[in-house]
Amino acid sequence: MAIPLLDLKAQYATIKDEILQVTEAVFESQAFILGKRVEEFEGHFAAYCSSGYAVGVSSGTDALLVALMALQIGPGDEVIVPAYSFFATAGVVDRVGATPVFVDIKLDDYNIDPAAIAAAMTPRTRAIMPVHLYGQTADMDAIDALARRREIAVIEDAAQAVGAELGGRRAGSLSELGCFSFFPSKNLGAFGDAGAVTTSDEALAGKLFDYRVHGMRPKYFHRYVGGNFRIDALQAAILDIKLRHLEEWSEGRRRNAAHYRTLFGEAGLRDRIVLPSELRGRRHVFNQYVVRFPEGRVVRDRVLEHLRNDGIGCEVYYPLTLPRQECFANVPSARGTFPQSDAAADQTLAIPVYPELTEGQMAEVVESIGKALRGSAGAETARVSNAAR
Ligand SMILES: Cc1ncc(COP(=O)(O)O)c(C=O)c1O
Repeated sequence: MAIPLLDLKAQYATIKDEILQVTEAVFESQAFILGKRVEEFEGHFAAYCSSGYAVGVSSGTDALLVALMALQIGPGDEVIVPAYSFFATAGVVDRVGATPVFVDIKLDDYNIDPAAIAAAMTPRTRAIMPVHLYGQTADMDAIDALARRREIAVIEDAAQAVGAELGGRRAGSLSELGCFSFFPSKNLGAFGDAGAVTTSDEALAGKLFDYRVHGMRPKYFHRYVGGNFRIDALQAAILDIKLRHLEEWSEGRRRNAAHYRTLFGEAGLRDRIVLPSELRGRRHVFNQYVVRFPEGRVVRDRVLEHLRNDGIGCEVYYPLTLPRQECFANVPSARGTFPQSDAAADQTLAIPVYPELTEGQMAEVVESIGKALRGSAGAETARVSNAAR
């Protein structure tokens, strides 16, 4: 039986009645734009994130974009971003006319390296945008200390990290602004595109609400040039239902991650594969369970092919670092070197970890990886890296 990377149909089967009930209620109301459903979800989501406010928006990308707009970041400004993330993290910086400044990550959590941030700061730095990649928070205490010294903003890209914690504090409440994606594959996924921005700063929240509707307040009077970044009432209603189940799902992911650790240990594979680790004081919510093959890209790709041949879903997040993307060829910082990001791009692979995954399925995944590794002796595999491309 095939094992997908994510099984949304299995999740839907468990909540179908609740979802159909609420969607029918929205259809009956014929109220689709903002309104009561959106406000209710925003209240619940802000509370979940231990944040003062949540502003529902059209996607995670728009959450990041509207956050930058609300801080009035634009031409002449620099925003520090990790070299290894989903494209949107850097794309939005460019879209507001500012310059992304790429810095390297750490391989222990795949998150931005505070030491590299310190080295990249200039008088033009307006914000730092750490990403809580795969569901584990970045080193926010160190990042916060750097930002405070210079009075610059910190914007969390928490797209993959709803419910992640650092020292008992939730992602989205660890800086001025937290940006979330509700893309269907996220731990809290909509039935389409959606996102949210959290903040405990009342003035910033007010701006975010305005920027979401073309910078308009009152109706047809515009203080800023914003956009249509609204979340649909239908998505908000669905997300409100799913939010009730989120903790149970996140715990399922965590349980599966712990079980993989046992299985990979029992299979004697721990010398050839680096498993994701939960750093001290953090709660990892495993939006992705990403393993690393330190022998390099050839071995990683062989495992990927083997898994796919066995009908097991897996994915490389992300095969090319941000500074090496064609569209950033003229960004000055893209000419730097990012060895840890290159290693992550070459050596990592996401395998299924969704909460409905069974122990039997996990055993199949581990067995398939074991077979792939035993079929490729370490010594014969050339190390090919992004850096050498
Ligand atoms: C780290 C990161 N940032 C931003 C985004 C953008 O979110 P969306 O796809 O909802 O626009 C994503 C989602 O894929 C992401 O993983």
